[in-house]
This record gives sequence, C-alpha cells and structure tokens, in this order.
Amino acid sequence: MQVKYLTDLATLVSLCKRRGFVFQSSEIYGGLNSCWDYGPLGANFKLKVKLSWWKAMTRRTDIVGLDAAILMHPMVWKASGHVDGFSDPLVDCKSCKTRFRQDTAMVDGKVICPNCGSKDVTEPRNFNLMFQTHMGPVADEGSIVYLRPETAQGIFVNFDNVQVSMRKKIPFGIAQIGKSFRNEITPGNFTFRTREFEQMEMQYFVKPGTDMEWFETWKKTRWDYYKTCGIREEKLRFKEHGPKELAHYAKAAFDVQYEFPMGWNELEGIHNRSDFDLSQHMKFSGKKLEYFDEASKEKFIPYVIETAVGCDRLALAILCDAYREEVVASGDGDGDTRVVMGFAPQFAPVQVAVLPLSKKPPLQELAMKIRDHLSQKDYDADYDESASIGKRYRRQDEIGTPLCVTVDFESLEDKKVTVRHRDKMTQDRVAIDQIETYVKDKLANF
Ligand code: GAP
Repeated sequence: MQVKYLTDLATLVSLCKRRGFVFQSSEIYGGLNSCWDYGPLGANFKLKVKLSWWKAMTRRTDIVGLDAAILMHPMVWKASGHVDGFSDPLVDCKSCKTRFRQDTAMVDGKVICPNCGSKDVTEPRNFNLMFQTHMGPVADEGSIVYLRPETAQGIFVNFDNVQVSMRKKIPFGIAQIGKSFRNEITPGNFTFRTREFEQMEMQYFVKPGTDMEWFETWKKTRWDYYKTCGIREEKLRFKEHGPKELAHYAKAAFDVQYEFPMGWNELEGIHNRSDFDLSQHMKFSGKKLEYFDEASKEKFIPYVIETAVGCDRLALAILCDAYREEVVASGDGDGDTRVVMGFAPQFAPVQVAVLPLSKKPPLQELAMKIRDHLSQKDYDADYDESASIGKRYRRQDEIGTPLCVTVDFESLEDKKVTVRHRDKMTQDRVAIDQIETYVKDKLANF
C-alpha cells in the first residue's frame, strides 16, 4: 500500500479544525496570535497525552505528583533568575520599524532585518518573557505578580513540604502538569511555540555525586517512554547542548528532538540543574531546603535532574506522526485514498465507533445499546448513523478511531456485529455478548 506521511503543517492545521481537534483562539474576532483552543476531540486527546505521561511518572514508588498554583510569590522569580535573566535581545529596524530577535537575524556577525533586509537597526534591548499582572485592587509596583513561565519552580518551593509529608527518601521525584506562559517574541508553527502552553515536568532529587548517573538513567527512561507513544523511532533523536547553549541553571542538558514537518526541533529538555534552584530558594527565603540522610548521617542540598516536555508540543508530535494518506484497494470505505490518524490506541479520542448500517429503529436501538454498554465499561465510544457506511469508516479513520462496530440486519438474527480494524481494514464477525472482551483485547494488541 502506498503511504504518504505529513510533509506540511498546513494540512494538519486544516484537519484539526475540520475534525474538532484544535481551533484558533477567539476566531470570530480574527483570532489571538499564538493561542489555540482544543475542540471536543482535541480536548480528549490532550487529556490522554497528559494521562500517559502522568501514569509513566507517578505509578513509580519514587515519584509523587503535585499541582501548584500558577501565581507565585514574586520573590520566586527573583530567586530563580527569571526576573533578571529570562529575556530575549530585541532590536528595531530603523527603515521598516519591524521588531525582531537579534539572535535570529544574524548573518556573518551582522544583524539584518528579516523583513526588508536593512542593516540599519537599533542597539538590542532585553525584553523579559514573563507576563506580568497585578494582585489586588491597586495596580502598582508593589502588587506585581507573574504568570509562571515554567512549572518547575512550584516543585522547588514545595520540596520540603512534599518530602516531609510523604516521608520520601532521596532519590525521589515530583511530577507536575500545568499551564505556563511566555511572552514569546517569535511564536508560531501551530501549537509548537505558543504564549500559553502546558508543561509536564518532573524534578528528580538526588545525592550530589550521583547526578550524572541519574541523568543518564533519565535519558534512557524518557527515550523508552517515547517508544510507547507509537512515534516512529527514526523521527526522534537526542541533541546535546553545547556550553554556549546551556541555561544559566544547567550543568548538562540534552534535548529529545522530533522531526516536525518544519524540521528537527525540541520536544523535551533533560537537564542536570545541580543544586542551583534549591540553593537560590534557600538564599532568598531564608528557609532550609536541605536533606538529612539518616543512613549516612549526612546533610546536603540535593541535586536535581529535570525532565521537561510541553504537553501541547508532545500532542503536536503525536498528531504529526499519526497523519498518513493511504492509497487503498476499493472495497473498504469511500474512495481510494484515505486519511488515517494512526494513533496508538491510548491516544485515540474515540476508541470505538458503533455504526448502524441503516436508520431503521431496530438497528439504531441495538447500536445505541452497544455504544452505551461500551461507554459504561469506560471506553470512549461514539455513535454515527449519517451517510453511507464507507463514508463513516473514512470519517472515523480521519480521527484515528481504532475500531468500528457495524450493526446490520443480520445482527438482529445472529446477535453478532462486524468489527473493522482501522489499520488493517480487516473485519471480524463478533458475538454481541463478547464485544467488550473483543474490544479490550484488540486495543491492547493493536
Ligand atoms: N523547567 C525547564 C523548562 O521549562 P524549557 O526547555 O524552557 O525548560 C520545557 O521548556 C519544554 O516546554 C520544552 O521542551 C517544550 O516542549 C515546552 N515549551 C517551552 N516553551 C514553549 C512554548 N512557548 N510553547 C509550547 N511549548 C513550550
């Protein structure tokens, strides 16, 4: 079978809008740049992405979860270095007035306006990427708070609370999923870089001296995780940060990159943050954030290995990787080219669709009964009775539904239904009272 994978983001953006995965934010007002809304299918899909990460992290005995507030004490961002250092150098073109990031417009050591090509530009000015707002009724200097630019700091400031309340012994980790905000200068590429996004971060606290060993362990653990996401392995790679690329807090860093249609780009960062964050918060808060090791009677500030991935970015990678156009033999579905979202079953927003062959009430009733039963058993089950069965298969293929259950006139007699497999397009005749076991087995071994 001829298969064509995604080569341009525009095709995916269009599918996402047409099929209710992702819409432009505030679209009826012309949209808000770099903000996106997840539609009915997208919301369920994204929830599954989060759940997959959350389970991979918190079903271990050495990692616990956290859900910290977005707004934090402003001193947090002084201590973390974000108030003074989380900025991009911006320059203005004196000819066409375009504002752009200096580092993205360097050619042979010279800054050239990406809009008009002029070299007549202003000196760079640092632009802080944190969004500011005010807490309370008076909007003055003293009431400034920030929308967090990363979830990690919520974990660092709760290190002691979590360690004591959960009686955790080092090494242990804290995992968190939540919104972050960055006033990015060059957002774009659909949901790849946005100003409001969700992060899935895990900070693993270890004894100094064991940090590089844990760093390697986490690199492998995360690579293994991506393999479970059904992403083609040849589309993933590690990229080490050179000394000039290292963030101010990092002792070592690797990115997991995915080959998006616009090229290789960061999916996740794995960082050795040393004791930078806990030391800074100790200094700024005056509170001890040390760990006492009962066994060795040693006291130390733990080192941190961080794994940080954007939920929206992982969702985008899964969407890009799942997309394919297939030329199929006639006989299945409608037309001879089909678009399939080949999601691993754990990410499919609809796991099983129940389709009555015609709109005759006995078929509708039986189909709805089967749908309700599967739904009660915790499957995402859809019901669709409009258009020809071929068109309905194609519709389900396009949203990545692994299984379609067709109820026909025979079903009323032999109490069996036809189940169609998304990828193989094969069909099985299955007894209705066995349908749940069948679906469970097929989804587990897809
Ligand atoms: N705590 C470390 C940290 O935040 P980061 O590399 O700046 O590190 C981690 O961000 C991950 O968050 C990135 O690998 C990316 O997946 C995601 N991310 C960062 N900025 C983003 C943005 N503007 N839009 C979407 N995702 C973003």
